[in-house]
Amino acid sequence: MLNVALPKGRLGEKVYAMFEAAGYECPSIKENNRKLVFVNEEKGIKYFLVKPSDVPIYVERGAADIGVAGKDILLEYQPNVYELLDLNLGKCNMAVAGPKEFYDDGIKALRVATKFPNIATDYYTKIGRDIDIIKLNGSIEIAPIVGLSDVIVDIVETGTTLKENNLEVKTTILPISARFIANKSSFKFKGTQIEQIVQAIKEQLK
Ligand code: PRP
Repeated sequence: MLNVALPKGRLGEKVYAMFEAAGYECPSIKENNRKLVFVNEEKGIKYFLVKPSDVPIYVERGAADIGVAGKDILLEYQPNVYELLDLNLGKCNMAVAGPKEFYDDGIKALRVATKFPNIATDYYTKIGRDIDIIKLNGSIEIAPIVGLSDVIVDIVETGTTLKENNLEVKTTILPISARFIANKSSFKFKGTQIEQIVQAIKEQLK
């Protein structure tokens, strides 16, 4: 049995479609219910739907053999897993954003609100800017509006959230997309099956 951790939500649906086209269907996953585990005994596959940021935890600890996680999560948490493939899905950018009128004069420590303190710290260390990190868990865009921070480091996909909150991208830090990851020992012991799925998905990316 191959255990697959899928990110719950829209990205997970697209990823599941790729696994289905690779021959690992599990039709019950499409039923609209609150179930989180889906098995196709015949195909030897089990899917778990987990919170996107938890996928690498399941994979690193071997509860899932493989999974799909955003590059943002992989960079932030640095899990000890193999990154086997860029799925070219869930594409967006990690960016610094702030109020249109905000200009960094470089005098005081810059107050940066983010869900990604490691990515933000790495970026500002590289450019030699002193910062004060404010770790939040969501709705990051509010922080500069209410004066909690000067800027945010966050994911920008369509840019709508920024626009509707009168914020703008100041600098794009790096591009993000979904990655196929594998547990290191699963890759050793179930390598043939994992490679077969990777190849079948690669074909779909051409
Ligand atoms: C993400 C991100 C931005 C938004 C960007 O938030 O943190 O808020 O999406 O998308 P856009 O550029 O298409 O508007 P998410 O929906 O994950 O919610 P959260 O902020 O509560 O984490």
